[in-house]
Amino acid sequence: MQPDLAIDLGTSNVRIWVKNKGIVIDEPSVLTIRAEDGEVLAVGREAYEMMGKTSARKRVLCPLNGGHIADMEMAEAMLKAFLKKAVSSSVGMPKAVVSIPSKMTEVEKTAIVNTVSGAGVRRTAVIEEPVAAAMGANLDIGSAHGALIVNMGGGVTDMAVISLGRTAVSRAVRYAGNLMDEEIIRYVKNTYNMLIGKRTAERAKIEAGSVIEGTVPGSYAVKGKCLITGRPIQADMDAEELVAPLKKCVQPIMSKIEEILLETPPELIGDIQTDGILLTGGAAQLRGIDRLIHQATDLKVRVAEEPSLCVVKGCGEALRYMGMSTSPKNGINPLLAQY
Ligand SMILES: Nc1ncnc2c1ncn2[C@@H]1O[C@H](COP(=O)(O)OP(=O)(O)OP(=O)(O)O)[C@@H](O)[C@H]1O
Ligand SMILES: [Mg+2]
Repeated sequence: MQPDLAIDLGTSNVRIWVKNKGIVIDEPSVLTIRAEDGEVLAVGREAYEMMGKTSARKRVLCPLNGGHIADMEMAEAMLKAFLKKAVSSSVGMPKAVVSIPSKMTEVEKTAIVNTVSGAGVRRTAVIEEPVAAAMGANLDIGSAHGALIVNMGGGVTDMAVISLGRTAVSRAVRYAGNLMDEEIIRYVKNTYNMLIGKRTAERAKIEAGSVIEGTVPGSYAVKGKCLITGRPIQADMDAEELVAPLKKCVQPIMSKIEEILLETPPELIGDIQTDGILLTGGAAQLRGIDRLIHQATDLKVRVAEEPSLCVVKGCGEALRYMGMSTSPKNGINPLLAQY
């Protein structure tokens, strides 16, 4: 019999957790197809390496955008390929918990559920990303204690105040890792008359990026194409130059945190005052992000351990609630819907 699964179908990365095995897939949400007939040539890391380097005959696609499915057919093909790698055979997979951004419409939710069932899973349950992230970070989401989770991914920053297993208040914005990369691309273009690719920008962000001045000393070299001559060039940037473009992208996230705090009921805000804010998701690893949010809110801010894995781990935890209306122990079910 096939094992149960947990799936984090993210804008930047797909993560699959298999019961009794753990996380078996953690790869970029990218696939390469043959332009002529749509045949899938590569998925995940292998396809990511081809990004920006393919010929007219091969296309590299990212089927998710801003946490939503942009191309259902390609998302299904990508997930099928990952499931084939994750479990020996992709037929007869019994059930899976899948994370979705909060504030998703019914149509968008249906697109995710259909993609998962199209890829071979019989029964699917969905859970909101901040709830899964909290569970994956080992918070007791069943208590009446309020917790503020900010999950910063590639396509969406999803934040929620959670109490009794559900979101009391939530917000989602498209300012996340990908837009940080785009801000770096824009900065380099305007300052150095130079075009750099998405992968170069992402690497610069991870290796030398910060949102607090004075944290990354020295210079950082980026290679790209001169906008005037069309020739390859290199710019020796000061790592400090990355602070302004990155902060520009983080500012709207901070405004949403302020908004969510304003809307949080008084009983729960007291809990947040005591415990602070928990950051999860890949982009929570950006240098200085915790300090910047602390400076703006005056609250304690903590980055979860292995922040990018919290959501999929939480989906795995939530598997035990499938088939139940509410948990017999505490009357809580963190799953949003079951299909
Ligand atoms: N060390 C790091 N510093 C800064 N950013 C990082 C670091 N490591 C990864 N990231 C960024 O984290 C983002 C991916 O995070 P994650 O894997 O949580 O996203 P996702 O779940 O695929 O997307 P989403 O939840 O938005 O649909 C990317 O933009 C990536 O560049
Ligand atoms: Mg995510």
